[in-house]
Amino acid sequence: MADVRALPQQSSLDALFASHLEAVCARSARALEACGYSALLVHSGSLLPVFQDDRTYPFQVHAPFKVWAPLLDAPGSFVYFEPGRRPLLAFHQPDDYWYQPPALPQGYWTGHFEIRPCRDLNAARRLLPPNLRTTAFLGDSLPELASWGVSDVNPPRLIRHLDFARAAKSPYELACLRQASRLGARGHLAATRAFEAGASEFEIELAFLAACGQREQDLPYNPIIALNEGGAVLHYQVLETSRPAEHHSLLIDAAAEFAGYASDITRTHSRRDPDFAALIGRMDRMQQTLCSEVRSGVDWREIHLQAHRLLAEVLREAEIVTCAAEEAVATATTSVFLPHGIGHLLGLEVHDVGGFMRSPDGGDIPRPEGHPFLRLTRTLEEGFVVTMEPGLYFIPQLLDAARADHRSGRINWSRVESLRKFGGIRIEDDLAVTAAGHENLTRDAFRSS
Ligand code: GLY
Ligand code: MN
Ligand code: MN
Repeated sequence: MADVRALPQQSSLDALFASHLEAVCARSARALEACGYSALLVHSGSLLPVFQDDRTYPFQVHAPFKVWAPLLDAPGSFVYFEPGRRPLLAFHQPDDYWYQPPALPQGYWTGHFEIRPCRDLNAARRLLPPNLRTTAFLGDSLPELASWGVSDVNPPRLIRHLDFARAAKSPYELACLRQASRLGARGHLAATRAFEAGASEFEIELAFLAACGQREQDLPYNPIIALNEGGAVLHYQVLETSRPAEHHSLLIDAAAEFAGYASDITRTHSRRDPDFAALIGRMDRMQQTLCSEVRSGVDWREIHLQAHRLLAEVLREAEIVTCAAEEAVATATTSVFLPHGIGHLLGLEVHDVGGFMRSPDGGDIPRPEGHPFLRLTRTLEEGFVVTMEPGLYFIPQLLDAARADHRSGRINWSRVESLRKFGGIRIEDDLAVTAAGHENLTRDAFRSS
């Protein structure tokens, strides 16, 4: 099988990484100065043992570490950074014959670090300066830290400064995000073929993973692969192994990672029902209208509220609600069908940090009243990467609540009953805000697959 992880533009990453690292160094130096520290020590994370077992959970590297280096499988490693000096990577290479120790890293990024192997924590400590009294530590609160003499462990103010800056991506990060989208699109195309051939949820997942060339633990989040009514569960996790008697629909929210950067992609498919296929098409056009509004200077809360106005029109046209569109919004009837936020920041984590911050120094921007699940309230800036993910679901718990309150008379219940078997619709793309407006990473990836 071809290595689907191969990067077409590997050589261009070399140059991009140098300026990315420069920017990370510069903003880290500013954050350290603002918070009164002279150096930063970042931990990659620990392998967590399963209770009373000799296995560990799959390792997930800490995001504040992978912003420095695309090193995804090196638990117990550290980056030490002192402004003005080349960052040090203390690379954990245990002396182990039960498990394969990681090889010293090689690649486009390694030349920018002083890389030193260490067998254990004591060896890592010896690689660091003797005096860490003004060094801030980020990572697991290791018991050993008590004797290391670091200034503070996970100081919130410093974390806030660093998280705030992560929203705007460097050209290197954008290249990684593009590649994550390409891998995710390949997975989606294979999953769609499996759905059309009548596969189970589990078989669809296997097709997705094979096409991405990634294990489940390598993905940025557990795939949501929902046939039929399962699409009504927003983070559906069941992965049914048997095939259903009938395939009505597939809602697949699944994506891939590249060099630690996530994509986040959702598509909904109808097997044979032209009415549901038309509703998906209508939601797709609505999603594209929302995407067209993405540019620097736009308040994301406005995009979220606009999504509710547009959804109200779709619900009205599709005869799911019986009242006027404005009334469906004013009475929160749209929230029965779209309970989640319209999108979120994307980057090293699928729900990336810093979505509410007014400034690095403090203060959060509140969500609009009545919209408790929105994850982003900031005004968009060039370099931000966001998802755009409107949905329309038939969620039993929310429908039951609406049937019992002021919204009952505004919903066409027989229409709802006929659509329940499809679960729901979500269409989700990843967008980078550019000087000219935005770049749709997901649509571009599907076009080039
Ligand atoms: N895949 C989770 C989300 O769309 O936010
Ligand atoms: Mn998302
Ligand atoms: Mn998603």
